[in-house]
Amino acid sequence: MRTTMQRLIPALLFSAVFLIGCSRGLPREERPLVIIPDMEVQKKFKAQGATEFFEDGRMMRRPVVGTVARGNLQEDTVMYQGKFGPGETDFVPTSPFAITPEFMKRGQERYEIYCTPCHDASGAGNGIVVTRGNLVRPPTYWEQRVLDHPDGMLFDIITNGIRTMQGYKNQIAPEDRWAIVAYVRALQRAQTATIDDVPVNKRGELD
Ligand code: HEC
Repeated sequence: MRTTMQRLIPALLFSAVFLIGCSRGLPREERPLVIIPDMEVQKKFKAQGATEFFEDGRMMRRPVVGTVARGNLQEDTVMYQGKFGPGETDFVPTSPFAITPEFMKRGQERYEIYCTPCHDASGAGNGIVVTRGNLVRPPTYWEQRVLDHPDGMLFDIITNGIRTMQGYKNQIAPEDRWAIVAYVRALQRAQTATIDDVPVNKRGELD
């Protein structure tokens, strides 16, 4: 008569074979018996690991000097820096974008999201952050000094910030920054307009 053990052996062998076949989807530590190891358990370099193979001791290699991520070359300095040259003050006088009603609308929308908290909707510099906190009060956009900024400089201020104001290049796409520049120009115009900006036949309607 066969013992219980003898009866169990074939069943155990069978299930071992079966489990090998099923091991693929399981986490490594739960896998049963691996007779022929999968390629994933071979010796290999891991991204954050250390090695003596390379002089700098890290397994992960650095990109070749000068490598640029695809889609991030940004060679067009006018579009991406607001500058025509490498000099600190080589700002383009005017935006590279044609001003359309849609572009202006986009600029207004982005301005109201990103700039009004400090500069307020009119650009006077009385945003909620300023009135409630002790932030340096921003200048109005119609201070002569700011009126004199070329478009490229306004773009640079939004991109990299200025003095105590931080930059917004990580939050606002380049085209949207130019749309905001257009809208800031409109805000300046709104405060510096003279009677000559009003069509003659509409002047009678003014208070
Ligand atoms: C968190 C508050 C804050 C936000 C948001 C903010 N700014 Fe400013 N901004 C400032 C402060 C503060 C100054 C004054 C900086 C100083 O003189 O130290 C300033 C200054 C400026 C100036 C004048 C620069 C000069 O020559 O004096 C411009 C133009 C400007 N901001 C545009 C913008 C635009 C456009 C946005 C939206 C994309 C924006 N700012 C968002 C706080 C802010």
